[in-house]
Amino acid sequence: MLICIPEVLSKDDVVEFRRVMDRADWESGLKTAGPQAALVKNNRQLPSASPVAQDLGARVLEALSRSATFVSAALPLKILPPMFNRYGDGENFGVHVDNAIRAVPGTSLRLRADVSCTLFLAEPTNYDGGELVVEGHYGAQHVKLPAGDMVLYPSSSLHKVEPVTRGERVACVFWLQSMIRDNQHRSLLFDLDQTIQELGAEVGPDHAASVRLTGIYHNLIRAWADT
Ligand code: NI
Repeated sequence: MLICIPEVLSKDDVVEFRRVMDRADWESGLKTAGPQAALVKNNRQLPSASPVAQDLGARVLEALSRSATFVSAALPLKILPPMFNRYGDGENFGVHVDNAIRAVPGTSLRLRADVSCTLFLAEPTNYDGGELVVEGHYGAQHVKLPAGDMVLYPSSSLHKVEPVTRGERVACVFWLQSMIRDNQHRSLLFDLDQTIQELGAEVGPDHAASVRLTGIYHNLIRAWADT
């Protein structure tokens, strides 16, 4: 399931991010690509150890901690430090699947990538191409969101970034290990939680049906979660 979350960052935050990023030093995206991805990856990124990447990454995580939709959709257990990339004219990232296990840079920690996240940091009107294309059971979905918006998709999906043909596509990408490993289970829990919120707004969160459904939600998490 592909889930879009609007306004993770405000437009003012995006302007501030871009101002800081535009002055930073960038490296080839090949620095962190595995052997298969290296054949198809063609972009630039902020070095993960750079203070700019670490500071902006912390701000993204802080913004996400305030997003009820993000928490409900991802049920995050551990989140890798966000990375920042840019694609100029002719740059792209061909079809690939993200690595299943990723190391936290500078540590011996590893985590399983269950959910992939892209936070867009350029307005769609400022570049052509650069769509994120995610293949799923219902065909390929093309994603190109306003700056500040984010998309989540299963890390198990084949996906690509189309070549940019004008301007520059700038984004923040990261991976997380969810408390709920199974994509279908996570998807069901998100739908159930959204339904509980809607029902609560209609009949009140203390209505007997709301209370029972909330109980079912927590008991499913109890059955399925790893912590
Ligand atoms: Ni990828």
